[in-house]
Amino acid sequence: MAVGKGRNGIALGKVARREVLAGGAVLAGLALGGSGSVRAASSRVESLIARMTMDEKAGQLSCYSDMIRPPVGDINPLVNQRNTQQILADTRAGRIGVLMNGVGVEGALLAQTAAVEHSRLGIPLLFAADVIHGFKTVFPIPLGESASFDPTLALRTARAAAIEASSQGLHWTFAPMVDVARDQRWGRGAEGSGEDVFLGEVMAQARVRGFQGPDLTAPDSLLSTAKHFAAYGAVAAGLDYNTVDLSEETLREVHLPPFKAAFDAGCLAVMSAFNDINGVPSTANKQLLTDILRGEWNFKGVVISDYTADQELVAHGFAADDRDAARLAILAGVDISMQSGLYSRYLPGLVAQGLVPMSVVDNAVRRVLSLKEALGLFDRPFRSIDPKAQAANTATPAMRALSREAGARSIVLLKNDGDLLPLPTRGKKIALIGPFAQDVDNILGPWAFFGDKSLGVDLATGLREALADPNLLTIAKGCDVENVIPGGYDQAVAAARAADVVVLAVGESQNMSGEAQSRTEIGLPRVQQQLAELVAQAGKPTVVLLRHGRALVLEGAVKNARAILATWFLGSETGHAVADVLFGKVNPSARLPVSFPHESGQEPFVYNHRTTGRPAPQADDSQEYKARWRTTRNEALYPFGFGLGYASFALSDLSLSTTRLAWNDRLYVTAKVANTGKVDGEHVVQLYIRDRVASRTRPIRELKRFVRVALKPGEKREVRFTLDRSALMFVGDNDRWIAEPGMFDVWVANNAVDGLQGSFELLGA
Ligand code: BGC
Repeated sequence: MAVGKGRNGIALGKVARREVLAGGAVLAGLALGGSGSVRAASSRVESLIARMTMDEKAGQLSCYSDMIRPPVGDINPLVNQRNTQQILADTRAGRIGVLMNGVGVEGALLAQTAAVEHSRLGIPLLFAADVIHGFKTVFPIPLGESASFDPTLALRTARAAAIEASSQGLHWTFAPMVDVARDQRWGRGAEGSGEDVFLGEVMAQARVRGFQGPDLTAPDSLLSTAKHFAAYGAVAAGLDYNTVDLSEETLREVHLPPFKAAFDAGCLAVMSAFNDINGVPSTANKQLLTDILRGEWNFKGVVISDYTADQELVAHGFAADDRDAARLAILAGVDISMQSGLYSRYLPGLVAQGLVPMSVVDNAVRRVLSLKEALGLFDRPFRSIDPKAQAANTATPAMRALSREAGARSIVLLKNDGDLLPLPTRGKKIALIGPFAQDVDNILGPWAFFGDKSLGVDLATGLREALADPNLLTIAKGCDVENVIPGGYDQAVAAARAADVVVLAVGESQNMSGEAQSRTEIGLPRVQQQLAELVAQAGKPTVVLLRHGRALVLEGAVKNARAILATWFLGSETGHAVADVLFGKVNPSARLPVSFPHESGQEPFVYNHRTTGRPAPQADDSQEYKARWRTTRNEALYPFGFGLGYASFALSDLSLSTTRLAWNDRLYVTAKVANTGKVDGEHVVQLYIRDRVASRTRPIRELKRFVRVALKPGEKREVRFTLDRSALMFVGDNDRWIAEPGMFDVWVANNAVDGLQGSFELLGA
């Protein structure tokens, strides 16, 4: 395999040199088919299936937590756990197909030897894990990284994570999460790409290509999984695991496209979600897992249930008991059962009693074995199990440099009154105040269980290293994330009084987002708001550093601070990345992937909502009988796509190649972007459309394209976007994607609410 070195020396492979969104992935030798049209797999796979007992077949369809190398941290609830001896015995008996969340080559060697050398048919195990935003070296949470609006960056961090994780014996990651998150109360938005479909598609593809690399058989390739199928981000009231009540149009238009994009990029695994949709749990949803996935999309990979999601069909009230749950899941299209053990326990009996056809089981086994074959595991079962690779590819300087770069590129500058930022590195006394000032427990973010904490750089360390005179930095914690500390407020106020500038590090702990971490109020914990109010009384210019896994509501002294940076959870190099932006070594260029509302009660809040028959009032309209809240304005405090930098940019000269777009033609939209500031900078130019009149009410705006442009001061460049009918489609009658002739507005914009506006007509066929 030809491998190129990317910036920072991370080996990227051919894929990094390709256009990120162009082309398909390499599906080495894969012979998988839809359930209705299963092609014969390789003769090796077919001959294995012919020789397998029913127990062995059920075993290949079963995934368990790897208790040989028990997962670090509290990844999942401890249900149905098996001990090392039992895992090894079951592996030797051919009763396990996949082990998950155990890492390290020693244990992998032990388990793979049990499978390959001691089981009857010698079928190798697949080793999977939740490698979500890095492994030992941790990169920004996916939501933060999506703020970079830089798919190449997402590809590079995924590639680096794959290199690190695969060197510890892993073949498969349960990522990327591609759920569109339109309600910031939901904690798992942190793992995805935010509220927008197009950004979600672009990032999904970049991550799939990054994880998998150009060659699935390469030892450093990590098979990706698009999850959670489907509409997990649409849980009612943002309550994790909650029910989803959703129109077919919104399901297909908003929640499914990032999955399809991931598969188009070569993703070969999908995880069925915990939630139901309109009363049918996803893990028993044949329409979703078979009709759409395999019938409409011709998906050739495997479906794995989420953790015990098959067993949870009983709690849903959809299955009568565990046995019924196994039957429903396999018939709907779940190939691999994660952790419940239901397939091993019940499939043999269900087949014997004629309740599940053997052909259904065989097809699932065929897909799992073909996947193992596509990864090269039959020929090289000990691939990726190499102690030397483990040592050489873990937390390398290049990976740490990439983490720092990714961190800085994920930071969004929300406010910078009077150009308070960047701060000088000399001559000013800085008080770094807040629970995150000197904290390494909350820098990695949710879903970084394998992260090496000893690599973590806290804010104080990062700032101190950047300052010409580190003695000018004082630190005061002020309070804990959710509790007061004795004397904390007084010390913080004293530190603020003695300083020239206050840097206030406030926000969420990493346990406040992620799985099962829904919030009703998405503001700062009260104790931190109180800290901010008291510190503000010192009257010093203040920079707020927000730490968060979702959009936040900002109030009082936090909202009114002179400068605000959205810094998410940036990973191992947090302190360095923040210092790079704070002191101007890096000019911030990220943009919000989620709208920041004024109040929590506005959630679910998205920029791309429909207009209603009584649209929100304009400033001087009558306020009565309009779609408005009594207490707050309709628009976001900081809209989707918004972000400042240390340069300023001006858009001008919008031009459309035609105002009458023929049905099969293309439209070129051009505009000029100029750096009107004094420093080099990058801008994200965004293109939005609106379908003025259609047979379904349409969003007031939809992001369709974006491009990053780097400009020197005074430099001006033309950006050109291409649109055709496919960008103007929506889901209409009979759940079909259609385009309709008529007028469209188009904006070339800095964010979801501004821009240069034009219009064109799509002419009929
Ligand atoms: C999560 C999945 C994860 C799985 C395995 C579940 O609780 O919903 O996203 O991949 O656990 O750890």
